[in-house]
Order: sequence, then structure tokens, then C-alpha cells
Amino acid sequence: MTGSRNPRRGTTAIPRVPDHRVDPGDSTGRTGSAGSAGNAGYDWDRFNPDWYVQHNYAELRDDDRRILQLVRDFFATVLDTDRPVGRGIDVGSGANLYPALAMQPYCRYIEQRERGGQNVRWLERQRPWYSELWDQYWTLLTRLPAYQRMEKPREDFAAKVRVRCGNLFELGPRQWDAGTMFFVAESISDQEREFKSAVERFVGSLKPGAPFAAAFMQESAGYYVDGIRFPAVAVTKADVEHCLEPLARDVETHRVHSAKSLREGYKGMILAVGRARRLPG
Ligand SMILES: C[S@@+](CC[C@H](N)C(=O)[O-])C[C@H]1O[C@@H](n2cnc3c(N)ncnc32)[C@H](O)[C@@H]1O
Repeated sequence: MTGSRNPRRGTTAIPRVPDHRVDPGDSTGRTGSAGSAGNAGYDWDRFNPDWYVQHNYAELRDDDRRILQLVRDFFATVLDTDRPVGRGIDVGSGANLYPALAMQPYCRYIEQRERGGQNVRWLERQRPWYSELWDQYWTLLTRLPAYQRMEKPREDFAAKVRVRCGNLFELGPRQWDAGTMFFVAESISDQEREFKSAVERFVGSLKPGAPFAAAFMQESAGYYVDGIRFPAVAVTKADVEHCLEPLARDVETHRVHSAKSLREGYKGMILAVGRARRLPG
């Protein structure tokens, strides 16, 4: 993991701080007061989904467009709408519907697992009728027949998607048939071991052979959501590949360039797709 001055998704740039003690002048999502607190040390209930979605997703950015195309095309090669898999999971959904939309035609049931209270309520408000904002994402998906064939995508989404307030570090092993986790593992902690653990929990929660897509911010140092600071671990494409190697097979990773930067120092994103390995034990 490398040091970096880059910010995280949804944010104003911040410099990398030499330690993680709370600056009294800084508005931080930390609940503790000293040292490196990790995921549990941040108050995820203060994560503001309305601000986040406006800042990140109101306009379909080129980097998200590229990621969604890659994920759409990947799922089309490994999943079949004629034989939908049972259960898909989107981990750390926050205020982003597009990972669930990408899995929608292939799953009978999709769970959005999220820790932040405001995010959970925001996700619940997306049923039965999600905002028109997401139509630009759906339109991109409908370039493929699997999505195009869906006559009533909102009704279908409302019928099969459920939100669960929960902690990804408590995901049970080998339960899900497909999975997505976007901008989460590297953006929920300042501790490298928690980045690895989040990836392990996510991929380990999938049945052997289950396909997944995971997106990461590259070399992020932390980020602000509506003026509140949240943590990140600065990861590179090589870090993601190294972390996935023992957990997954047929992994493809992509660096996604961000031509239009909303944020100072912003470098780009990483997408990994693959299938969960059969793990020992
Ligand atoms: C940077 S946001 C990413 C949101 C969304 N997936 C996206 O693509 O924009 C990180 C999300 O992870 C959630 N989160 C933080 N810790 C978590 C945990 N332990 N378990 C599940 N979700 C968590 C946060 O509340 C937040 O919604």
C-alpha cells in the first residue's frame, strides 16, 4: 500500500495526515479521540446519503460509465437470465444503486448490506420507486438484451431487492451466488489489515465459483462526506490483485481513468471481476 495525496470517492481532497489523531478543528466521523481507530471507530450513521448521491451520482461520470460497462459485460458472460442464480449481495451499498442494478436480471433476490443508519433508510426509500437519476445507469445496462428484456425494471427491483443493516465483517461464509462491493474495502478504515479483511469477508461470503465485481478508489487517503471526514487505505491495482489472489480465480483487474476530475488530486478507480475460489476448510 502506498502513501498518496489522493482523495476518496465523494469528496474534497485532503492531504494525507501523518497520524490519525483527531484534529479538533476538523469535522470527523471518528467516535474515538486518539490513535488509529479502524472501521469501528467511525460513526457511519453520520454518512449523509443525499449529499453523497448528489456529489457522486447525479451525473453519470465517465469513470462510472466505464465500470458499469465492464461489470455489465462481465455478468453477461458468466450469468444467464434463463437460469437466474438465487441470491446476490451488494456490500456497503451506501447511496449507490448501480451495483444492484447490474445484478438485477440474473438474481432472484438481492440484499444490500449496509452499516450506516441514514444510508439504510435512504436505500429503503428507493423502493417501490427509485429516483429518475438512476435511469441513465439503467439505460447503459439496456444495451444488453438481459436488461433490455425487463419490461418493468422498477417493479422488479422493488420485488427482489432488500436492505439489511449489518456489518460486512460479520458476513457468513459461502452464502451468496453473486456479489458486488463498490468503493468499500479501501474506504471504511485507515488500517491495511481491515482492507484485506473486508475483501476476504466479501469474497469468502460467496459460494465457490460465484462471480463478483469489486471497485476500489486508487490510492485514496480519506474523504469528506458533507463536511465529515471518513478514512481510507491507499491501495494500488497490485494491492488489489495480491489480496484477491488466494481468494478468487479468473480475476481480471482494470484501472479506470478519470478524465473529468471533480476532486483535486483524484487519480482513478480500480475494478476487479472474478469468481470466488473454493477455500479450504
Ligand atoms: C465510500 S462508501 C461506498 C458506497 C457505495 N457502495 C458506492 O459505490 O458509492 C462506503 C460505504 O460502506 C459503508 N460501511 C462502512 N463500514 C461498513 C461495515 N463495517 N459494513 C458494511 N458497510 C459499511 C458506509 O456506511 C458507506 O455506505
